Amino acid sequence: MNRDRARWNEKHRRKTAGSAPAAVIRRFWRHAPGGRALDIAAGAGRNARYLAAQGFRVDAVDISDVALGRMPDRPPNLRPVCADLEHFDIPPGTYSLIVNIRFLKRRLFPQILAGLVPGGLLIFESYLAGSGPDYCAPSCRDYLLGPNELLHAFLPLHILHYREARLMEGARPFYAATLVAVRQSLIPG
Ligand SMILES: C[S@@+](CC[C@H](N)C(=O)[O-])C[C@H]1O[C@@H](n2cnc3c(N)ncnc32)[C@H](O)[C@@H]1O
Repeated sequence: MNRDRARWNEKHRRKTAGSAPAAVIRRFWRHAPGGRALDIAAGAGRNARYLAAQGFRVDAVDISDVALGRMPDRPPNLRPVCADLEHFDIPPGTYSLIVNIRFLKRRLFPQILAGLVPGGLLIFESYLAGSGPDYCAPSCRDYLLGPNELLHAFLPLHILHYREARLMEGARPFYAATLVAVRQSLIPG
């Protein structure tokens, strides 16, 4: 078995499932046109379930079959996809909404841009470098965003919201960049 999958499966086995959806998703999902949504690194599906309940047809991608297996009562409009995002490709021009919460795979940035339909919405929130020892954050720097990195990566989109701040979700604070942006429709020449 893929070593990352085994490691994440072990983490998910120790976790209790069923936390609330990310606050930024609850706040901004209405800016997306209806249609298909992609949840990148969906975990046990707290965000995917919420979006499915709002009527999106959701593809929830994660490397962990243990996490995705925590969706036995999933609605028919939520499709779990067990895949390593190191190799997964996002189909272009497909999604009205792409969410990426607490996960960073830079190779996906151009595919996220291309994966949105015109008018489609991106909601991205992940850990920033530079937090203190009491903060929740991945230990490997490869998984931490630099200052303004997320903003620069998605400048081709129309930015609705961007901030870098200390956030609180669960027991420990985390330091994160949050971006909400729309792929503009092409203006006919
Ligand atoms: C911190 S959790 C965030 C889960 C979810 N986005 C949320 O907000 O609850 C990171 C997730 O990334 C998944 N993951 C880690 N590496 C991955 C990879 N290479 N491909 C796909 N998923 C991966 C893990 O299984 C885990 O569910």
